[in-house]
Amino acid sequence: MPEEYRSRRSCLAVPGSSQRFLDKARGLAADEVFLDLEDAVAPAAKEAARRGVIAALNAGGWGGKLVAVRVNGATTRWAYRDVAEVVAAAGRGLDAIILPKVTDPGHVVWLDLMLGQVEQDTGDEPGRIGIEAQIEDARGLARVDEIAGASPRLRALVFGPADFMASVGMRSLRVGAQPAGYVGSDAYHYPLLRILVAARAHGLAAIDGPYLAIGDLDGLAGAAASTAALGYDGKWVLHPAQIDVVNRAFSPGQDDYERAELILDAYRYYTSVEHRGAAMLGDEMIDEASRKLALGVAAKGRAAGLRRSQRFEPVTDGSAEHPPRGEGLGQPAGQG
Ligand code: GLV
Ligand code: MG
Repeated sequence: MPEEYRSRRSCLAVPGSSQRFLDKARGLAADEVFLDLEDAVAPAAKEAARRGVIAALNAGGWGGKLVAVRVNGATTRWAYRDVAEVVAAAGRGLDAIILPKVTDPGHVVWLDLMLGQVEQDTGDEPGRIGIEAQIEDARGLARVDEIAGASPRLRALVFGPADFMASVGMRSLRVGAQPAGYVGSDAYHYPLLRILVAARAHGLAAIDGPYLAIGDLDGLAGAAASTAALGYDGKWVLHPAQIDVVNRAFSPGQDDYERAELILDAYRYYTSVEHRGAAMLGDEMIDEASRKLALGVAAKGRAAGLRRSQRFEPVTDGSAEHPPRGEGLGQPAGQG
């Protein structure tokens, strides 16, 4: 978990060709907004969309959201101008470029070099603009480890279920939902876990892709809860109605958040003051592995704006020792 964790619970796709959607997106509660130049924009509208995206970035007003642009894939005729024109004209308003259909680490290296060239030209801070790489077909998944290590600019790997389903021949048109007839519990488990492991091995965020049935908020809530439980940081959303559902699914619960903060305080106290590596907190043993788990939950909770109400107070009667002695166990302050 990086020191300064940025929330990407909901990542809102906004078609770059729609002025109305670009204007509306500013006031929505998504953690990240990305202005799309790829599949939401028809080939004939690509150039106009590029100009619209530049204007929207320069107009600002995005609040504390992360702002990204999804350019066209590295093998398309639009990609070089997407990057050069958008970043040269509006790079200061941009946190990241989303690169779709990454099948080769060379795609990421190409984007990294392009960004570096534009930054030198404009005098912008070198390396500031990040890259989020979409893994959305069999070739990309097969090389996901190399892709995840291809540039220090990488911030996240993003699963693209629609393109992935097409690539592997999954027999369903319901993107993000389980395919009818599949008898396992989650047809996306393998790509999701494969991408998550590659992302974490390189210190990156892992983001799940869209759920296309906009009217099915229960189905979306189930899909989001499942990838959140697996460890993902967030999920794409395509419509304002999906934002709250997804933000909720990817925020830790208040109880888990409180517990994570208590574990961090308690672990700090027991290791530095009492020089013990394992101790009891309430009825549970905590150690270095608990601290690592708690770090992730606490970072996500803080980034999601949760506030703690409990403080850790050490117990001095020996009950916090591990293995525990006697009946009375250490308690978080303010609890029975
Ligand atoms: C997103 O780009 C997807 O293909 O699902
Ligand atoms: Mg796609």
